[in-house]
Amino acid sequence: MRFHVMTLFPSIFDAYLNESMMKKAIENKKISVDIYNIRDFSKNKHKKVDDYPFGGGAGMVMTPQPIYDTYDHIVKKNNLKNPKVVYLTPKGKVFNQTIANSLSKEEDIILLCGHYEGIDQRIIDLIVTDEISIGDYVLTGGELPALILIDCISRLIPGVLGKEESFMEESFKDNLLEYPQYTRPREFMGMKVPDVLLSGNHKLIDEWRKNKSIQITSERRPDLMKKVIKNDKNK
Ligand code: ADE
Repeated sequence: MRFHVMTLFPSIFDAYLNESMMKKAIENKKISVDIYNIRDFSKNKHKKVDDYPFGGGAGMVMTPQPIYDTYDHIVKKNNLKNPKVVYLTPKGKVFNQTIANSLSKEEDIILLCGHYEGIDQRIIDLIVTDEISIGDYVLTGGELPALILIDCISRLIPGVLGKEESFMEESFKDNLLEYPQYTRPREFMGMKVPDVLLSGNHKLIDEWRKNKSIQITSERRPDLMKKVIKNDKNK
């Protein structure tokens, strides 16, 4: 999987991609992430990338020329044919595991990070294939959302996670939230690890975990619980 990121703030990506699983995935060539600074492509003599909105209103809008030229550069350099171009915006479809699974099948994804009051609509009409939001709240830009997509999609690529971690993936497929986990010590500040987890009886442990998952999902995410019930009926 190759990610190509268009941003005004390239350095935001450095730290995250240089640690832990992302770093390993890049080193092992399971993914690549190329970052392009939109400002480098501005034809304005002051490298301006935004302007006042036609029709008035607060804030600035990102102009189409630098974004289009960045896109054109990425497409030509990598010989891309009709690539997915994801624009991160609070107006987009809300990201979830199903969207992540589907995007993980792509070979190339271009991520467009917006700033200010948004980008000129003509860019969206011309090049964007998917508008995605990471939740119903507004951030200052699309960089954190882009990193969230890169992280979530990368861990679905074969070989990025270890075998055990990949197995964990299975549980979210059932729409259930994860059961509580405990490790050593057996007692911490007077609080004991549930006996069943120390019993060695795997049938009982599985039952306990499933019940906890159902309890937590019902309490916190009745919307997910409805899906669980619907899926069970169809089995
Ligand atoms: N840019 C600003 N807020 C955002 C959000 N919630 N999701 C995606 N991109 C954004």
